[in-house]
Amino acid sequence: MSVARGGRLPDEIPAAMQALNTSVEIDWVLWREDIRASIVHARGLSRAKVISAEDSAAIVKGLEQVASEIENGQMVWDPVKEDVHMNIEARLVEIVGAVGGMLHTGRSRNDQVATDLRLWTLAKADETLAAIVSLAQAITAQATAEIDTLMPAYTHLQRGQPSRLAHHLMAWQEILWRDAERLQDARARTNESPLGCGAVAGTGFPLDREWTASELGFMRPMRNSLDATASRDFLMELSSTLAILGVHLSRIGEEIVIWCTQEFGFMHLSDAFSTSSSMMPQKKNPDVAELVRGKAARLIGSVTALLTLEKSLCFGYGRELQEDKRPIFDAFESALLSLRALTGAIQTASFDRARLAGALETGHLCATDLADFLASRGLPFREAHHVVGDLVRQAEEKGVELSALDRSVLSAAHPLLDDDAVLTALDPAAAVERRSGIGGPAKARVSAAIDDANSRWAKLSEPAGGTNS
Ligand code: ARG
Repeated sequence: MSVARGGRLPDEIPAAMQALNTSVEIDWVLWREDIRASIVHARGLSRAKVISAEDSAAIVKGLEQVASEIENGQMVWDPVKEDVHMNIEARLVEIVGAVGGMLHTGRSRNDQVATDLRLWTLAKADETLAAIVSLAQAITAQATAEIDTLMPAYTHLQRGQPSRLAHHLMAWQEILWRDAERLQDARARTNESPLGCGAVAGTGFPLDREWTASELGFMRPMRNSLDATASRDFLMELSSTLAILGVHLSRIGEEIVIWCTQEFGFMHLSDAFSTSSSMMPQKKNPDVAELVRGKAARLIGSVTALLTLEKSLCFGYGRELQEDKRPIFDAFESALLSLRALTGAIQTASFDRARLAGALETGHLCATDLADFLASRGLPFREAHHVVGDLVRQAEEKGVELSALDRSVLSAAHPLLDDDAVLTALDPAAAVERRSGIGGPAKARVSAAIDDANSRWAKLSEPAGGTNS
């Protein structure tokens, strides 16, 4: 007898339909959540006096045995039984006999799979959050170690203004902070229970949905049975959050690739997080960063699949929702792999301080500071910009840096520049310290930003407590 086909349809099924229909090779991953929710449902049935306490206890015991069989690798997953739910139920019936058939009273695979997926994604969201915290802490640790390392800040990948490496690293950390917040936010909306909503319009059995929700650690039962069984916006939202995270990691990855080039030479990855070439013996490649960039493409693919899957779906479960598993599983896996590898790569990386600071020496990096100097002495900034622009042109013509121009050239450009204080204006270290406002690169400001970040991340990594909340 085929469990999945019931009495209405013949057991035989054409190979092409069988292959399309089955999902256990993907959704077996949900087995822990499926058994956990089934145990709560079995207890709920007896609490509501729908089945006897003895039958409920026998079902729970049987489910625990199925769990240990799966844990020990003894379970034979059968594609003919369609999915994880039917496979587990069929094994339960083999173990406990006909009483196992009572488990599905007042329940459908529609509320079952929605419950399992919510439980699974909540746990994965926590794992991902912890991995974001570790990466952020690896970044702030490097920022602390490199607090005195100066470097240019770039726009258009052209040297812009003098800055410090720690300030740059802390920008990486900031985007991760918003990713963590987004994940927590999406997680809160995921934390509601569909269990007890049945196939689409609930059940007549007096099941206590508040009780099952709280037993499973959910904040509350979902309010509407159609919505609960057929909405997957929690997956769209989580995968969007992961796609944004992936895009962020790809930006960090891109900078690592650039910084590790011989042309830049700002950063060195450890041997452990580098790869070689099968042909060129001298190569040490930053594949870790490139693979992270690649995973972002998959993350964008996952959110696209999930959005498209639910587009135009009527209210009430549609079977295409079965296709939600692969993209969300893949999204969490890609995000976690990227986060963990990047954390190791950053923890073990080193920075070439001389090379970073050396990059301040060319590119007239204090041009803005010289214009600011004039502006601070009353010259309208637009005019100051023009005066300094002209000086940069003269420096270029002479093949020297702005800071190397003769003092007489400066004075000739504008009388206000006939002042010893221009030397400070043209000093990159002084220029960094001057930019001490909120969000600026001055040492005290960046040190305070690191302290603030460390305490925020430490707080985030504190355990949330015993439930899904
Ligand atoms: N394997 C299915 C899924 O993942 C379970 C729900 C099946 N429901 C149904 N009415 N056929 O969506």
